[in-house]
Amino acid sequence: MASMEGLIGLMNRIQRACTALGDHGGGGDLPTLWESLPTIAVVGGQSSGKSSVLESIVGTDFLPRGSGIVTRRPLVLQLHQTDDGSQEYAGFLHMPQTRFTDFARVRQEIADETDRLTGKTKQISPVPIHLSIYSPKVVNLTLIDLPGLTKVAVEGQPESIVQDIENMVRSYVDKPNCIILAISPANQDIATSDAIKLAKEVDPTGERTFGVLTKLDLMDKGTNALDVLEGRAYRLQNPWVGIVNRSQADINRKVDMISAREKEREYFESSPDYAHLASRMGSEYLAKLLSEHLESVIKARIPSITAVINKTVDELESELDTIGRAVATDPGAQLYTILDLCRAFDRVFKEHLDGGRSGGDR
Ligand code: GDP
Ligand code: NA
Ligand code: MG
Repeated sequence: MASMEGLIGLMNRIQRACTALGDHGGGGDLPTLWESLPTIAVVGGQSSGKSSVLESIVGTDFLPRGSGIVTRRPLVLQLHQTDDGSQEYAGFLHMPQTRFTDFARVRQEIADETDRLTGKTKQISPVPIHLSIYSPKVVNLTLIDLPGLTKVAVEGQPESIVQDIENMVRSYVDKPNCIILAISPANQDIATSDAIKLAKEVDPTGERTFGVLTKLDLMDKGTNALDVLEGRAYRLQNPWVGIVNRSQADINRKVDMISAREKEREYFESSPDYAHLASRMGSEYLAKLLSEHLESVIKARIPSITAVINKTVDELESELDTIGRAVATDPGAQLYTILDLCRAFDRVFKEHLDGGRSGGDR
């Protein structure tokens, strides 16, 4: 019987195959395959802790972080859980031959690849960077790191940048299949949160929004965030999760992920304000919550995804007929790959729906 984990893993592969084929979504009347698959995007103001939250979910240090506008292109990040005991590694779509085991080099390559399109400026670009991470320590998820929302252009940026960033972020979170990780820093008034403002616009019912409150450790002494975390300040359908990421000083001192998580756990367990919520706070809990949510979304979408896949398989088959099945050109080979994946995907769905009683080929 197909496990849900296998299903999500297969989904990640299909999504990568779609991207390799140039299907980035958009265009056409019907949703493309890419558009029908769930993804998780982080949204929030500059320096609210978006990249830090993504890193803790992954459990590995690999993203450029810091003050100011560090993330200047969308990063589409696919996590693949491995269980074969192999060392964790990463790969970029733009350099398919290279397997990265040194995550400091992954971070450097993200920065370099950002600069290749934007120059070493404070400009942004909507063209995504695609990164896959294979590790026994991750759950199977597709995450998107986005440039931070901002209220004013800084030196060296065009005036239009405020609107450009908002439009770019909106183009990701608009999609009904996008799960929104709305990041707000606890040391700012939640009423002014850019993340919540945008999430509210694109997801008024709040069913696909997760409120994440970072920087709890930076709140003024004598105050706490219980109003937010307990859902009184701004109610969402999903529970709020409080986070304590590494501070800039921690990053400079190269505090590693394991100690950071340990410190985060201790923070909640020993806090007089948050101890009663400790089991529902922190990065590890957030990762678990997201994974469970994603599974339930996939289950609910099985019928509609199957419809899109059937259509895509038909389209690909006729396309293959047109270009000639025997011709092993590059695009042809890619089409075979995606066609095989679609069939495998379809089969797993059917097995799942039958509770594994029948498999069978199309
Ligand atoms: P982004 O711009 O939203 O991607 O934010 P980053 O993840 O790059 O974080 C911006 C800065 O805030 C970095 O210096 C982080 O170390 C710091 N930071 C993020 N989250 C926290 C937190 O929970 N506590 C503390 N003390 N610092 C944080
Ligand atoms: Na930043
Ligand atoms: Mg960032």
